[in-house]
Amino acid sequence: MIGVLVSGSGSNLQAIINAIESGRIDARIAVVISDRAGAYALERARKHGIKALCISRNGRDRAALNTALLQALEEAGVNLVVLAGFLSILDERVVSRYKNAIMNIHPALIPSFCGPGYYGERVHEAALRYGVKVSGATVHFVDEGTDTGPVILQECVPVLHDDDAHTLAARVLKVEHRLLPEAVRLFVEDRIRVEGRRVILMQEENGR
Ligand code: GRF
Repeated sequence: MIGVLVSGSGSNLQAIINAIESGRIDARIAVVISDRAGAYALERARKHGIKALCISRNGRDRAALNTALLQALEEAGVNLVVLAGFLSILDERVVSRYKNAIMNIHPALIPSFCGPGYYGERVHEAALRYGVKVSGATVHFVDEGTDTGPVILQECVPVLHDDDAHTLAARVLKVEHRLLPEAVRLFVEDRIRVEGRRVILMQEENGR
């Protein structure tokens, strides 16, 4: 059972829903939870008959938010938590309860342009400012730090001389929509082993 945490438009959530509906991922999304009431991701979930909850960070401190999230995830029987553009920080209770079972998508090649304050367009602005020739997307397990957990999948995209944060974000987002469902599929098929910081992806059968 998958739980997806979101804060925004939910295009990565949509990519996971599509992969499930097309039969590529053999699992179910038990619940989608947003920390923002207006998140379009909630509407996407409801359109597909998926339970959608708002656990707002308004009026809740970090501890209260995490308590409510943990309770909702456990009630829904979730065993994989996917952060798909989720902007709140999970505390050590959630991280230890779901050790190596929370994955996050980050729109850069970790360990570049990541950590506290690197979210949304800021990530791409920083990459452009630095002048890197490639950027990309990273799916990683979540540990107690910010963007510091073991890397599951990464893929790069070129940075073009006339890029701005929007064009670079759009190029990276396309990759995110492939990478995140792929990581979810590997997890669901029990093809992921974590050895220290290294993530081992088990051999695929049928040459897939
Ligand atoms: C993505 O770029 C994701 O990497 C970042 O926030 C964005 C979320 O997009 N953390 P969406 O809500 O999935 O459309």
